[in-house]
Amino acid sequence: MNKLPRITFAGTGFVGLVTAAIFADRGFETIALDVNKERVHSVNQGRAFFFEPGLQPLLKRVVLEDKKLSASIKIVEKILATDITFICVGTPSRKDGSCDLKYVKQSAKQIGQALAQKEDYHLVVVKSTIIPGTTRGVIKETIELESRKTAGEDFGLCMAPEFLREGKSIFDTLYPDRIIIGQFDEPSGTKLNEVFNELYEGDKDQFNSQWEEIYHKEIVMPTTLRLSLEEAECVKYANNSFLATKISFINEFANICERIPGVDINKVAQGIGLDHRINSQFLRAGAGFGGSCFPKDVRAIIQFAKNKGYSPKILQSTIATNKHQAKRMVELAEEKIGGLEGKRVAILGLSFKPGTNDMRHAPSIKIINYLLEKKATVIAFDPQAVAEAKKVKEIGENITYATTIKECLKGADVCLLVTEWQEFKELQPEDFKQMKTPTLIDGRRVYDYHDFLAQGIDYVGVGLGLKEE
Ligand code: UDX
Repeated sequence: MNKLPRITFAGTGFVGLVTAAIFADRGFETIALDVNKERVHSVNQGRAFFFEPGLQPLLKRVVLEDKKLSASIKIVEKILATDITFICVGTPSRKDGSCDLKYVKQSAKQIGQALAQKEDYHLVVVKSTIIPGTTRGVIKETIELESRKTAGEDFGLCMAPEFLREGKSIFDTLYPDRIIIGQFDEPSGTKLNEVFNELYEGDKDQFNSQWEEIYHKEIVMPTTLRLSLEEAECVKYANNSFLATKISFINEFANICERIPGVDINKVAQGIGLDHRINSQFLRAGAGFGGSCFPKDVRAIIQFAKNKGYSPKILQSTIATNKHQAKRMVELAEEKIGGLEGKRVAILGLSFKPGTNDMRHAPSIKIINYLLEKKATVIAFDPQAVAEAKKVKEIGENITYATTIKECLKGADVCLLVTEWQEFKELQPEDFKQMKTPTLIDGRRVYDYHDFLAQGIDYVGVGLGLKEE
């Protein structure tokens, strides 16, 4: 590629901002677009407005030092000034679980308005998670209507789903397992393939980053699969549904193991994980899955399938099992200490997983709700997510937030470990002895139960069938 294409990213969420920053770091001129002035201002100051490991220094470098990334609210104007636009806006759930496409439609409209004024070829790449048929349907049609141009002739169109995990989004962007390119036509896919080639294997001399040293791993062009637009859209849903199902499967088995004295789900998971057809990942039993993707995407594909006349049984069970898993945490506490009315329950961890302040669909919300229904008094601690938790309507003002782990545990009747933050993993049996009664429900299996039991902690672990004494 002689001259690197200029790229606009519509939407500055995790996917949009992190991808824009990595492209910028690899020498591309990138512009992150958003309607939110504060977000745009923050990016232009080189400040990350959400917590993501490594993003802050990266933004500082690409925005303030290299000046390769900027942000803007002038969406149409900036699209017009670039060669490629990635659509990375959110696709939230509607009340019935279906996928709300309003932001995607809005983006398509703005791209269309820009293309109406543009002579040159423009490539549009959809990264947002959208139900099958949306790229060729709403997106293509809206762009064509607004621009009076034709896909495949005046502009290219691809769907390239994103698989990055929160907390690891920089690594995942640099080292994806594979790249999926859904293409409207061959030239669109070839063009996007070239862009990815440049991103991963372009002229390394112009990159000033030290990712390969940081991660001890060479950056190479990942395996790439060229598919139809609809296949690419399906890959994203199938991927997230499969992983979510894997978690619900192991949680279901954990509930069985709890009823067999001497059986530990972690050992069972290790046993099946060694079968390379299964593999060991996403087999950690616990309080269930949450986050911005799994719950939303599984529900959206269920709703999509139902609208097409098929009711997907496995996926519905994945959601039902996950819901039950949150309840199971509370049941374990009840089985151990009896009724929870008036009991002080300490919650360690609020965010949906460690390394993020994200509270979206966090299991802690459901767990706390059940506890409040049982009239327990809840005190919670989280190293990052308290401010976000306070904004969650169902729990917000209804619980107390401790400022230290010690304060959270002091005087509690029972403690539920919900998110496996590193600082919780480091706790010793001694730390739990300041509770009124040292009873611990280890919802993420972070502790050595032999040690905890030996030191007098009334320990209960998810998926752990303890032998009768
Ligand atoms: C997920 C997908 O991994 C990613 O590919 C996609 O792009 C977005 O959705 P993310 O939501 O950031 O990423 O989190 P992830 O690390 O996958 O964890 C999701 C949830 O599953 C968390 O609540 C986590 O605690 C839970 N989980 C994960 C388990 O309970 N057990 C496991 O073994 C793995």
